[in-house]
Amino acid sequence: MSVQSAAVLPAPRAPLAVIGTTVPEPASDEILVRVRTVAINPVDWVIQGTSRVTYRWLQTPAVLGSDVAGEVVAVGSAVTRFGVGQRVFGLATGTDRGRDPLREGAFQEYTVLLERLAAPIPDALSDEEAAVLPLGVSTAACALFQSAHLGLRMPTGETPQQRGGVVVVWGGSTSVGMNAVQLARAAGYDVVSTASPRNAATVSALGADAVIDYGSPTAVDELVAAVGGRPVVGAVALGAGSTDACIEILRRVGGTRLAMASTPVSLAGLVARRRLFPAMLPVFTRIGLTTVRSTLRARRAGIRAGFVWGSSLRDDEVGPALWGEVIPRALTDGSLRPMPEPLVVGEGLGDVQAALDRQRAGVSASKLVVRI
Ligand SMILES: NC(=O)c1ccc[n+]([C@@H]2O[C@H](COP(=O)([O-])OP(=O)(O)OC[C@H]3O[C@@H](n4cnc5c(N)ncnc54)[C@H](OP(=O)(O)O)[C@@H]3O)[C@@H](O)[C@H]2O)c1
Repeated sequence: MSVQSAAVLPAPRAPLAVIGTTVPEPASDEILVRVRTVAINPVDWVIQGTSRVTYRWLQTPAVLGSDVAGEVVAVGSAVTRFGVGQRVFGLATGTDRGRDPLREGAFQEYTVLLERLAAPIPDALSDEEAAVLPLGVSTAACALFQSAHLGLRMPTGETPQQRGGVVVVWGGSTSVGMNAVQLARAAGYDVVSTASPRNAATVSALGADAVIDYGSPTAVDELVAAVGGRPVVGAVALGAGSTDACIEILRRVGGTRLAMASTPVSLAGLVARRRLFPAMLPVFTRIGLTTVRSTLRARRAGIRAGFVWGSSLRDDEVGPALWGEVIPRALTDGSLRPMPEPLVVGEGLGDVQAALDRQRAGVSASKLVVRI
């Protein structure tokens, strides 16, 4: 049994601690990866600060982290797409219900990834660039392509003869949003989106034909105008306040599908509090009430609204299609650029906690990464 270092969450709400753990053995459908770079997602500090309420199944000690880039050091007996020594990136889903958060978490020297949720890193990409993708691109794909959400056709690599309609991406400058804009375009849909004015050009360059300032009081009117009477195949709601804005847009343009990825109220303030209880009571009450109100409003408007779980593609056909076909092809043909751009904020597992704190303080169109 080999020993490694891991940044573990020793208990709910405790700071990450770097300790010695056992290097996991890959199961038949897994690869063992020497982690070189990890990226930070909001869910990492959400779990750290609120798992007693939001991830009640999670046992500690746990290794957090979804985004991994590194090198294959061993493969399971049924693995066919990867070999030892290959550079690889993928989605770690260890904090999901029923998974093992010590085997499959990003923030450690060695982790296992499912073969079907990993892809080779093209020579032209650095580990830092590859690491920005996994949770962002996976969540975007769940929202766009799962039948429970927008149910759109996946990119095939061929230019579609006809545009497939418009996708509204509220939150186009988030990690998930930048991937949603690109995947929707690659699949043959037009995109209208939102961002702060400083990020509008970036989101346009990814393929959105209109990018509206989500802070503007007339943002909904402007997005409806940008749709310009084209058929709308659905909306992806990212960021606080995005759900109600998207419901109003869909109601006015006759769209019927909404994929929601964010809580209606940010949990950042709650995570910063010294104690979860009783501060959580008004926050979760507001989340609950807002969700019920939005769900009723959507139903009255004939909109099917559902909450996206970005790693749920592990268990359906979207995961293998995304990671086995779409991502490798789209990175090669340039229809998928690794976005947001990586910002290296640490070297080593000891820097991961500071990176989590920095992500929680807020980022703008950048992905924080730590080299391990
Ligand atoms: N359900 C899931 O499985 C899942 C998975 C991943 C993420 N998420 C959620 O999806 C959201 C985005 O996550 P992420 O990692 O992609 O975010 P991120 O990269 O941390 O997002 C940063 C960006 O958010 C934008 N933003 C801030 N407030 C906004 C608002 N009210 N409306 C629209 N955009 C806003 C900012 O844009 P500007 O700088 O342009 O102002 C900033 O660039 C978060 O709520 C996250 O918790 C959910």
